[in-house]
Amino acid sequence: MAQAVGWTVRDGVAVVSVDNPPVNALGHAVRRGLVDAIAVAEADSRVRAVVIAAAGRTFPAGADIREFGKPPEDPWLPEVCDRIEACSKPVIAALHGTALGGGFEVALAAHYRIALASARVGLPEVTLGILPGAGGTQRTPRLIGAEQALRLMLTGKPIGAAEAMAMGLIDGVVEDDLLEQAVALAVMLADEGKGPRPTRDRRDGMRDPVAYEAAIKAARDGLKAPRLPAPGRIIDCVEAALLLPFDNGLAFERAAFEDCVTSPESAGLRHAFFAERRAAKIPEAKETPRPVGHAGVIGGGLMGAGIAHVLLGAGLRVTLIERDRDALAGGLQRVAVMEEQAIARGKMTEKERDAQWARLFGALDVGALAEADLVIEAVYEDEALKAGIFRELDRVMRPGAVLATNTSYLDIDQLARVTSRPADVIGLHFFSPVPAMKLLEVVVGAQTAPDVVATGFELAKQLGKVAVRAGVCDGFIGNRILTAYRTAADFLLEDGATPYQVDAAMRAFGFPLGPYQVLDMTGLDISWARRQRLAGTRDPRARYVAIGDRLCEAGWFGRKSGRGYYRYDAAGSASEDPEVLALIAAEREAKGIVARTIGDDEIRDRCLCAMVNEGARLLGEGIALRPSDIDVVMLAGYGYPRWRGGPMQTADQRGMLQIRNLLADYVGEDPIFWAPAAIFEEMIKYGRKFSDMDEG
Ligand code: 3HC
Repeated sequence: MAQAVGWTVRDGVAVVSVDNPPVNALGHAVRRGLVDAIAVAEADSRVRAVVIAAAGRTFPAGADIREFGKPPEDPWLPEVCDRIEACSKPVIAALHGTALGGGFEVALAAHYRIALASARVGLPEVTLGILPGAGGTQRTPRLIGAEQALRLMLTGKPIGAAEAMAMGLIDGVVEDDLLEQAVALAVMLADEGKGPRPTRDRRDGMRDPVAYEAAIKAARDGLKAPRLPAPGRIIDCVEAALLLPFDNGLAFERAAFEDCVTSPESAGLRHAFFAERRAAKIPEAKETPRPVGHAGVIGGGLMGAGIAHVLLGAGLRVTLIERDRDALAGGLQRVAVMEEQAIARGKMTEKERDAQWARLFGALDVGALAEADLVIEAVYEDEALKAGIFRELDRVMRPGAVLATNTSYLDIDQLARVTSRPADVIGLHFFSPVPAMKLLEVVVGAQTAPDVVATGFELAKQLGKVAVRAGVCDGFIGNRILTAYRTAADFLLEDGATPYQVDAAMRAFGFPLGPYQVLDMTGLDISWARRQRLAGTRDPRARYVAIGDRLCEAGWFGRKSGRGYYRYDAAGSASEDPEVLALIAAEREAKGIVARTIGDDEIRDRCLCAMVNEGARLLGEGIALRPSDIDVVMLAGYGYPRWRGGPMQTADQRGMLQIRNLLADYVGEDPIFWAPAAIFEEMIKYGRKFSDMDEG
């Protein structure tokens, strides 16, 4: 028997224990081991019942996702589940940790399920662009009906053991001694002469076919754009569970699974899953992070208040610093509003809010940070202002404290130089709105100490954020790519597209908002100030589009001023603005550009190529460690459609040659912006993809 599955017999009960760290994924050795274990249990006359359990931190958390796309190796998971269900002796699954996906399908194939109270169960396959493919779509609705089964499978969200028991998905919840209790249940079942209870024969959830069909229809009607393949196929499978005999339903599910697992959408989502985990593999991963119990935040604006709010949520003591009483009161008020919103959304209780509030302090002087372990400066993006703050921090903070800036663009090495402790200085770049945005760019300066980097990553983990390591440059990873994206979009405006067309094309690509909608939301003045700051360094050969500047000169800063690329009414609804179109036409005319008709495909190609080319440059410059880190930044911070996996993954799917050729087509228009990054030639020469650079 394979080592990935252990086997002991006690009190006439075979205890089959999966042991495949870290999450007991159901790779080939585990599947083989389970099938063998069931066969031995059948044959061994001492065995009267079977318990399937798992060693380590969790019951299997799913199929081994790394095996998808590789040639299948027998036995397949559906077969494993069938063998378990067909066992002539009662089989009990003992669940702890996170029994997810294929792991939970194994449990569903067992005849009884008991769980630790802390266990979570679920069918998250949809988040990977697939569906439960080992009988989950057929067995789940048999137990709990279509409505609940669809909720589990379409949201992919795990539920707690108590809830699972209340809906009839599991049979018992225990506080501790899971294995002993599972064995005791097995002994009791055997003593009472209870045989197997196959889920395939159960109809608990199908007693009301009218309600079942109504749930199917409601789910179909509720499918939202973008129409990814998996959700629709999940609904079809749950319908098949009602309409077809069990074995035919399984075959139906298998065909749907195969379609989904080979779809580009699933490839993108699986790439995103591994990319997010890979981002934590940094050169400093083995360093011990500095302990952080007390954090300071300088600046109580939307960013600073948001940062304070999430730090409080992670259990830290927080001191918020502002320049005067009014500003401080405003900052604290902003934190309070965020806490109220969290309560309204059910993310926090009033008791938790009160406990957090007791850990929040306000002060007007950085002297209050003398004992803090870490400080995050989040004031207005002004180099002199920030440098002044860092000088003061250097003066007051204790040795070993981490000095972080939330700057989006400025040179962290320069800020570090104004202090006497550049090794303690780092960038922690949060995204707005801070509670909602998953991304944290950890910007590592030339002299940042390795354990300070590890501290940034550890903090991100505590805050539930995805950290990505970035080097110092103007805009780091995300804003460099955003700038390239916007530049390509601006070229399109000047050449004949409208902002509304560009936005619609990029929404159809999968972004929740187009680039001009985002600009209007965040304020046009921010990028205007940056362009003014960089005006002296601009390459005269580069094409410069001044449309954004003209809007700002007219006082149209976006949503906050009622006008930007769109016009906003009192209720905040946006409409297209003929005056903006006239302004764009005037800019074109001034440059002697004749507007041409531009199709949506061209808009998407140009925006994608701009992002990918900038990503390739970031790799070449060593700003990003690997292509998948760039993807994570764009997914977690900039609304790039997750099912496309990120720009570098999209480029891999399109093919390197095609991207390079498109860039070569555009390069005549602007030899600086569109020049293909150096690494393309080499990649094409050796037939490499970006994903080949991801490991490590
Ligand atoms: N297959 C392969 N590797 C997996 C895996 C899986 N199903 N689940 C997790 N891992 C790996 C991770 O990549 C990571 O590897 P690394 O250490 O090399 O980076 C390691 O296990 C630990 O994972 P996390 O860092 O995510 O650990 P956490 O403790 O934060 O989270 C978890 C644990 C909640 C189980 C989380 O890993 C998770 O959500 N896993 C995916 C669950 C899932 O989607 N299951 C369904 C799979 S598809 C399926 O079962 C198809 C079936 O229906 C046929």
